[in-house]
Amino acid sequence: MKALIPAAGLGTRFLPATKAQPKEMLLVVDRPAIQYVVEEGLASAADEVVIINSHSKKIIEDHFSPDPELVALLRERGKNAYADEVERVGNMNVSYVYQEEALGLGHAVRCAAEKTGGEAFYVLLGDVLVPNNAMLPRMQEISDAHGGASVIAVMPVPQEQVKRFGVIAGEAVADDVWKVDSLVEKPAPEDAPSNLAVFGRYLLSPRVMELLADQKPGVGGEIQLTDALDAVLKEEEMYALVIDPADGFDTGTIDTWLETNNILYRRYLEPKD
Ligand code: G1P
Repeated sequence: MKALIPAAGLGTRFLPATKAQPKEMLLVVDRPAIQYVVEEGLASAADEVVIINSHSKKIIEDHFSPDPELVALLRERGKNAYADEVERVGNMNVSYVYQEEALGLGHAVRCAAEKTGGEAFYVLLGDVLVPNNAMLPRMQEISDAHGGASVIAVMPVPQEQVKRFGVIAGEAVADDVWKVDSLVEKPAPEDAPSNLAVFGRYLLSPRVMELLADQKPGVGGEIQLTDALDAVLKEEEMYALVIDPADGFDTGTIDTWLETNNILYRRYLEPKD
C-alpha cells in the first residue's frame, strides 16, 4: 500500500519565499514541512511514500537522498546526533512520480496510478501536519470495520471558512465518525451542507483512482479529487473521521504556518522522556 503526497503546486501564497524554494521545504521548527508528512506516511500501514513532484523541485529529492560525505564529515567532527539524523532522512523509503502540468489535486493523484497497483492508497496533503501520526491508523480501523470503504478526515470549521475547503454532507454514525452522502468542493457558505471540511488525509479505494481518469475539471477549472470522491459514492460507501483540531496543523497560509511553528516549537522545547 502506498501513501501519496502531492507536492507539485506553485506555493503562490508564500511568494516571494517560494520563488526558488518549494513551499514543501519551508522550515517547521527543525525540519522541512514535507518531512513530517513523509514520516507520518512511513509510520502508517503504507510500505512506501510516493511524492508527486514537479521537475523544478528536485531539491525535495535531494533532501531524502543519502549524503555519505556529509555524514562522514559530521562524524569526523564528533557531531554524531546530526549525522544519525542526516542518515535517517537519506534512507527513508520515498519514490517520485511527476505531474507535468498543474491541472489540480485530482490530476496530481492520478499521476501516481501505476504506483498504487490497483490497491487502496493514502493521500496526504503537504500543507497539513499531523505530528502524532495517529490519524491514518484510526482511519484504517474505520475502513476495516466497514469492508474496506474509503475514509477521509474532516474538521469542523467556522461557516465563513467553508469556501476554502471540500465539505461533506452525511450523518453521524458514532461520536467521531460520519457516513458520507455527498461532497462539494469550495461551496459558498450559504450552500455548504455542513461545516465539516475535508482536512487533507484520505484513505481511498482503488475505484477512486479509476474514476479520476475520466474526471472533468470542476471548481477553478481544476480536476478536483473531491469530485471523484462524490462520484464514487454512487457505487461505494464512504466514511469521515471527525478529527480534533488539536491533532492537525494547517501550514497553508503565512498566519497558520507561523502559528504551527509556535505551537510545535513549544512542544519541541518540552523535556523528552
Ligand atoms: C484541497 C482540497 C480540499 C481540501 C483542502 C484541505 O484544497 O481540494 O477539498 O479541503 O485541500 O487543505 P486546496 O487547499 O488545494 O485548495
